Amino acid sequence: MFRFFLLGVVSRICAESLFYDTFSGNVLSNDEVKVRIKKNITFWCVNEVLPCDPLERRRVDGSCNNLKHPSMGTIHSRPYRLLPAEYDKDYEPRKSNSGEPLPLSRSVRTTLVAEGQVPDSKFTQLVGDFWLHAVADVLSLHDTVNFLIWTTYCCEEKGKTRKECIPNIVPDDDPVHRFSSIRCLNQTRPLSFQSVGCLKNDTVPERVVTATVYFDLSHIYGNSLKELNAKGRLFEKGLLKYEVENGKIWPPSITIKQKEVCLMNQLPHETRCHDTPNLSVNGVVGTNIFMIWTWRFHNRVANVLSKLNKCWNDDRIFFTARDITIATSMQIFLYELMPTLMGKYNLLKEGVILSHKGFRDIYDEHVLPQISLEFPTVLRWAHMIQVGKQKMYDTKGNYLKQHQAANLTLRTGYLVDNIDYITQGVFRQPSGGFDYIVDPDIAELGLGDLQRAFDLLTNDLTKGRYLGLPPYIKYRQLCSGNIYSTFEDLLDVIDPQRIELLKEKYKHVEDIDLMAGIWLERPVKDGFVPVTLYCVVVEQLRRSVVSDRHWYERPNRPNAFTPEQLLEIRKTSVAQFLCSVGDSVTEIQPHAFLLPGPGNEIRSCSEIEKINLEVWKDRNCDMELRNESNSQF
Ligand SMILES: *[C@@H]1O[C@H](CO)[C@@H](O)[C@H](O)[C@H]1NC(C)=O
Ligand SMILES: *[C@@H]1O[C@H](CO)[C@@H](O)[C@H](O)[C@H]1NC(C)=O
Ligand SMILES: *[C@@H]1O[C@H](CO)[C@@H](O)[C@H](O)[C@H]1NC(C)=O
Ligand SMILES: *[C@@H]1O[C@H](CO)[C@@H](O)[C@H](O)[C@H]1NC(C)=O
Ligand SMILES: *[C@@H]1O[C@H](CO)[C@@H](O)[C@H](O)[C@H]1NC(C)=O
Ligand SMILES: *[C@@H]1O[C@H](CO)[C@@H](O)[C@H](O)[C@H]1NC(C)=O
Repeated sequence: MFRFFLLGVVSRICAESLFYDTFSGNVLSNDEVKVRIKKNITFWCVNEVLPCDPLERRRVDGSCNNLKHPSMGTIHSRPYRLLPAEYDKDYEPRKSNSGEPLPLSRSVRTTLVAEGQVPDSKFTQLVGDFWLHAVADVLSLHDTVNFLIWTTYCCEEKGKTRKECIPNIVPDDDPVHRFSSIRCLNQTRPLSFQSVGCLKNDTVPERVVTATVYFDLSHIYGNSLKELNAKGRLFEKGLLKYEVENGKIWPPSITIKQKEVCLMNQLPHETRCHDTPNLSVNGVVGTNIFMIWTWRFHNRVANVLSKLNKCWNDDRIFFTARDITIATSMQIFLYELMPTLMGKYNLLKEGVILSHKGFRDIYDEHVLPQISLEFPTVLRWAHMIQVGKQKMYDTKGNYLKQHQAANLTLRTGYLVDNIDYITQGVFRQPSGGFDYIVDPDIAELGLGDLQRAFDLLTNDLTKGRYLGLPPYIKYRQLCSGNIYSTFEDLLDVIDPQRIELLKEKYKHVEDIDLMAGIWLERPVKDGFVPVTLYCVVVEQLRRSVVSDRHWYERPNRPNAFTPEQLLEIRKTSVAQFLCSVGDSVTEIQPHAFLLPGPGNEIRSCSEIEKINLEVWKDRNCDMELRNESNSQF
């Protein structure tokens, strides 16, 4: 309390921080702030921003990126909608064309998407894992946390009358649960600026997001400087805090709150649980390993930089290492993963990626830094390609064992003895098939032992309805320019036999939900993802690049890379990343998102192209070194 008071006074006197309304991004007067303090809604509705310096680096909390709208892009900012919301009265989900409620989500899912385990013939598990890792940076998990931890009564009697509860009914003829007593799957209404008290309840509900909107690895570095300083930084040689266990480097761990965070650790044997900014490095297994590797990657970079540049202080090394780590992560995402999935030529044509290795300067301060509401929604299609079983191998590629992947969520402790085998698996095990089939574990046991039963796809469909997403055909029209008025009009993107499935559940073509359409679409030409997903993702990536003043490919951002440095960043690949920080990775195939095979044989890491950090050598340090004896430094 005392510290908080002091901080308040200090910041008011020296720095004159401003307070912004999270939704509008407008400055609040002192009186307006007081009202919000009284209502105890500052956490969600007010952002405090220290004065911007146009020359400073990317801030941890995302503020001051857009200098005209300093608070835009921080946590709790608002997403934009590609299409206007469509709700029924009281902002309940829209009705079908005939005026009846839309068909039950669970029955739509079980009719449209079959369950089975069909491995893909092209892609490795790294595809789904890196995808999730990259987008976890801009997503919020609070809606899942909500029904798992805060609002757990939605399938109980009490839940029936509560507005915050939107459980999924399981019909009596459900193909799986007709053999069980389960008739209800937990789910809560997405949190909105309205439900958390920032906006009046008689306005269109708008989702509130708890991540910064930039691809800035905020799920690793945290979303406030205070949090990063408290949990992340060692304040020595630019390093993140770390521990050594089992001969490996890990993020720092907690023991006290472990039971709350790493809920699924099997005590007493499994005790590792990470105390990182916002406790993030403890989630689903696929992202958890990437976050551990990224944590190590930062420190590897920092170690090299501090040896290279003896005159740099901790701060300079830390933020340069962060900048390099963010850039390599985005380079893999944008230039390796996305082209693999969406077609390189497509992305070149759309202007998402460059055809050369130089800079691009397309910053536009008039494009607000925002994530569309539809972006995280359509990405949930990735549940279709997730595998249920995490397979483990030794370093020679011999199969050892497997474990239900969902059952490794919130179970960091399992990794201590198994991360080597899991790592060997992610670039050898095929991804789930890019087909129209979902793994039964994802569709029935999506949250492992955290729930008795859980269907991730049903949850995704329902969520879209409560976010007020308009009908699928409106998105088709947005993406293709065509008008869709009959089911047959959809033949341009959906095969006839799958249109039959849609007709079975939806009476009118306008009734079809966005997710339902995406599940059944054909892939984009020269790519592997559904056409509407492609359309929404391309729109977002363009916006993310254009609206980020600190985007790594810009030549004139503060502390920009030199052309030589950018060229080094461009050499990154996921294979190289794994060679440098993956567990016991000494050999790997060069295109690690693709299964090893002819032309992509597993080979020694020494044959995989590396980044050379020499180009970060600061000549000024040599000069300073000579003066060292007679300087304070
Ligand atoms: C104020 O809001 C916070 C966060 O929403 C909550 O945790 C806390 O319990 C509230 N305090 C009071 C006094 O209502
Ligand atoms: C809107 O309703 C919710 C309950 O559903 C309540 O918690 C919230 O405070 C209300 N918001 C306002 C601004 O009154
Ligand atoms: C992250 O942690 C900081 C400090 O503990 C806290 O103030 C902030 O609300 C957290 N952010 C989120 C999104 O949980
Ligand atoms: C999850 O793992 C625990 C511990 O290994 C085990 O007891 C449990 O049966 C597993 N659950 C499922 C659904 O496989
Ligand atoms: C729903 O949540 C409650 C409370 O956590 C839990 O007891 C119940 O088993 C859950 N339902 C299902 C189907 O998992
Ligand atoms: C080192 O000494 C030279 C010559 O005295 C001077 O020009 C230079 O600025 C000094 N460098 C630093 C970093 O102090």
